[in-house]
Order: sequence, then C-alpha cells, then structure tokens
Amino acid sequence: MIYHGEDMMADRTTPNSTSTETSGPTQTMPRLTSLSHGAGCACKLSLDELTEILAGVSFPDDPDLLVGATTGDDAAVYRQPDGRVLVATTDFFTPLVDDPATWGRIAAANAVSDVYAMGATPRFALNLVGWPRDLPFSVLEQVLVGASEIAAEAGYLVAGGHSIDSVEPLFGQVVIGDAREDAVLTNAGAAPGQALVLTKPIGTGIVTTALKRCEPLTPDDDGDLATAYAAAVASMTRLNRDAAETALAAGATAATDVTGFGLLGHLHRLASASGVAARVDAATVPVLPRVRDLLAAGYVPGGSQRNAEQAARYLDAEVEDTERILLADAQTSGGLLFACAPDAAEEAVARLVASGHDAAMIGELVDGDAGRVQVTSR
Ligand code: CO
Ligand code: CO
Repeated sequence: MIYHGEDMMADRTTPNSTSTETSGPTQTMPRLTSLSHGAGCACKLSLDELTEILAGVSFPDDPDLLVGATTGDDAAVYRQPDGRVLVATTDFFTPLVDDPATWGRIAAANAVSDVYAMGATPRFALNLVGWPRDLPFSVLEQVLVGASEIAAEAGYLVAGGHSIDSVEPLFGQVVIGDAREDAVLTNAGAAPGQALVLTKPIGTGIVTTALKRCEPLTPDDDGDLATAYAAAVASMTRLNRDAAETALAAGATAATDVTGFGLLGHLHRLASASGVAARVDAATVPVLPRVRDLLAAGYVPGGSQRNAEQAARYLDAEVEDTERILLADAQTSGGLLFACAPDAAEEAVARLVASGHDAAMIGELVDGDAGRVQVTSR
C-alpha cells in the first residue's frame, strides 16, 4: 500500500493511525507524519550534496539579477525598470505534524519567511501540492485553509498553484514579494564588530522528530513532548514579519532565516558571504522548552546530524556533541538571524521580546577567516 514509502527514521514501529472527521463519517486515516520520510526542512539536501549537484549546472549572470543561485541567499532578487526589485522564493516539504491545518500554517509561514529574510514585502503566492490519491482530499483542503490563514495574516494573496498526485504528501508555496533595491538584506552585508540577533528559539527539528517517532499526542498530554510541541507550533507558525521590520529599523546590513541548515549552517553561510568570522555564545541561544530533554532521549533528525558533522569543518574549537547537534538542528520556519550595530541590537531584542518573541543577542561578527564560527559556552 502506498502509505509505506521508505521510512528513513529507523525506529518508527507501529503504523499509527488517528481518526478524522473531515469527510462526513469518521474514517481512519494514517497519521500525516507517518507518511513523511523526514521532518520539514530536515528533508533538505545538504550543503555538500547541493554543492556537488550544482557544480555541473551553469547559472548565467544578468546585471538585473541582483541575488541569484550562487550566494546561498534566501530568495532571488531581480531588478525592475522602476528601481524596485522582485523577490522570489519557494519552499515545500512533507508533513511534520499530524494536524493538516497546522501543517499548512507552518509551511506557509516557512515559505514566506524567505521574503522577510530579504527585507521584502510578500505580495502573492502559488501553492505547490503533491497528494496521494488514497488520502482524503478533505485533508488537503484543511492544509490549504491553514496556509491561506497565514497568507491573510501576512497580507499576501494566494493566486494559484500546481498539484500532482504523489506517493508522499508535499506542500509548500512559491512566494513573490518586492522591496526597494537599497533595502534588500542579503547574506553578504555583514561586517566585523556587528552583533548577531536571533529572533526565535531553536529545536524544532528535534521536536518534530520526537513527534514522528512517538505515539500520537492526546489532548490531555502534559509531558515533555506535549510542552515542546505546543511551543514549537507557536514558534513555527509565527511570521517573521515583525522580526524583519525590527531588523530594518535596527539598521541591519545582513540577514537570513534559520531553516534546514540549522543555526550554525546559516550563520556559516552568512559569515562566508560577508567575508567575516563569527562568535556565538551558546548560553545565550534561545532553545524551545524541553528540547534538551528530548535531545538527551535520543531524538535527533538525520538532517541535524548531517549539519552537525559538516559544522565540525568550520567550527573553531571542539564543541561537545550534544551542544553541536542542538546548534545545528535543522529548523522549520525558524527565526531571522541578522547583523547590526551592538547598541541597535540591544534595542531590537528588547522590542522583539516585548512583542512576544523569544529573541536574543547570540554573538558577534569578527575579523578572521571567512565563515569560521567559534562557539563559546559557559
Ligand atoms: Co531561508
Ligand atoms: Co527557504
């Protein structure tokens, strides 16, 4: 039966199912996460894999393509004749939660995040859908409803899309935005002496991996996973709009969002593109509640493990394994990481915290080998 796609998470045992009342009479359907081989952005091909694949592909230059495929930025930026720029990005993945509307909300918040990460305003989106024909279409409808709630909150239109039937459910969006050319924030604009601000806690990869491997949560659950899950969903469905506005107001000169390559991977890319090194104070990095317990219990996404292995190459000193995995954990719909003057960073964090963000100053950019990252822990 089609639901048994290959499962790369080795220790998932029982074919869990939950009931849903989405199509009239209650019917049993598999848990959405049981149809997914990976968890959210943790399914991403790794930096190494991408580098190898793209080595044989040419990306012609165009003076109007201000940000293209070669710099590892969050979105492509194309200059319009009127001096503004178009910003285009796409993201899609398999289910990382069991509730379809929540999946849709997370996927949309994650897709539009790359527009915010460039300092741009989202205008419209196209849905991307892959759906198994033996999974009720009413479930897909809920995914789309969740996504349109996020689009409405963010103020962009869903203008169409494309759908195919596929073995695994897939959902995401292409999001198009625009900006003034001089307001665009890329990976490449950071300078030594700037502070680093992170606007959301990390750990979503660990939480969604635990969710997938454990029995389904029930409404009266109050264990580690239930606590972590509630916090992770709140974080993953939060728009990075206020974070981007705050970054621009703080005079940030570089920004990215923290997704599949984890905090360390995205910081490494930002530092590399800017020709600077970075220092992170591990103790200041916000972490979702109970994530350290879940990590200690062995819930590590494959993508985070790969990120952590790659991080060993650009980390300045030995970082203890657990700490390295946490800092490299593949995020879905993670926060913005931006660089600005230290005093502006302090104000930005205060403003973000006041509006409910678990934001913090997590380190600084320094002179040194481009892309090197030093993690200190106290
Ligand atoms: Co991004
Ligand atoms: Co992305």
